[in-house]
Amino acid sequence: MLKILFAPLQGYTTGIYRKAHAEIFGGVDAYYAPFLRIENGKPREKDLRDLNALEGDARERNARKGKAREIPQIIANSVEEFKILANTLITKGYTEIDFNMGCPFPMQVNRHRGAGLLSDAQAVQKIMDEIRKISNANGTAPTIVKGTAPVKFSVKMRLGQDTPDEAFALLPILNETPLTQITLHPRLGKQQYKGAIDFKSFEKFYEECHHPLVYNGDITSVSQICEMEHKYSKLTGVMIGRGMLAKPSLAAEYKGLSDINSAASQDFLGKLFQMHQVIFDHACKTYQGDSQILSHVQSFWEYLEPSIHKKIFKKIKKAGKLNEYQAAIIEITSQSSLKTVILEHSDRIHNFSND
Ligand SMILES: Cc1cc2nc3c(=O)[nH]c(=O)nc-3n(C[C@H](O)[C@H](O)[C@H](O)COP(=O)(O)O)c2cc1C
Repeated sequence: MLKILFAPLQGYTTGIYRKAHAEIFGGVDAYYAPFLRIENGKPREKDLRDLNALEGDARERNARKGKAREIPQIIANSVEEFKILANTLITKGYTEIDFNMGCPFPMQVNRHRGAGLLSDAQAVQKIMDEIRKISNANGTAPTIVKGTAPVKFSVKMRLGQDTPDEAFALLPILNETPLTQITLHPRLGKQQYKGAIDFKSFEKFYEECHHPLVYNGDITSVSQICEMEHKYSKLTGVMIGRGMLAKPSLAAEYKGLSDINSAASQDFLGKLFQMHQVIFDHACKTYQGDSQILSHVQSFWEYLEPSIHKKIFKKIKKAGKLNEYQAAIIEITSQSSLKTVILEHSDRIHNFSND
């Protein structure tokens, strides 16, 4: 059975979203937090607050048996930025850190971060050297906080910013680095999140990569996960983002924790509203004023758009006052077609072999 990893999506998979999803839908082996980055020479406060959204020490939380782990991610343009961010997370008790070499947003790429780093083998080599140092140091290297547990690193990357040659030029460096896994999104940065997935390059990478490999990109159904499992026997897992936001029961369905047809049942709807309630209550407690609260809850519905009546979806998006928003939510509960549309989605089989 493949591991199911929840991809990080800035603005969507917030701390409270991850917590609510784990408690209500489940089936996920690990949640990846959106990236922590440097702003004005320091780790960005907003990103740190999101990691702090959950109570307790990160190490203690991640050690709880049967609980999905929460893995923070960093994005950096140099070994200097990398060290500041890694040390911040290690101090917080995290013992697993993911490094982003795939973000295609021009704001990051132009600053030599994310997919913008893939063409710079020298900078990547320096960061990988630092990963080796921290991993080997067992918490006693001068650059990191003494007394901490060994820290493990993984990488999430694309094939390149402009050409897949970039990933293949880096692969020998990555193969030599002690990484727990590589997650590959087989698109180029310049494609952002659209356009064909390059399965030919994915397969070459799969053959040549010495680390456990995780596939990421466009997975929306249980049948697609099963197809990946059968086609790529060495694959460790799949990381799913938009597909899970659109269908939060996906991981549990694959794991057999919930009935494959549960999406059609009231159970699915009930869980969806339960999850929304947790996020809504948290937003009301944490933020002040209608517009701040709304900006944190409206995103919950964004990827559920195809499952909601257009008219109600528009009302949710356009709501400028909390009472307008709440009225729209109540309207969804009376929408009988929601379950049918979700079921149709679960049956839509994407045929990878035709890509
Ligand atoms: C709005 C948005 C925000 C994202 N934020 C992050 C992020 O913080 N870190 C990251 O590694 N990937 C980020 N991604 C990429 C996703 O993790 C994922 O790789 C991508 O959506 C493709 O997977 P999917 O087709 O399963 O959604 C983001 C994607 C989107 C659309």
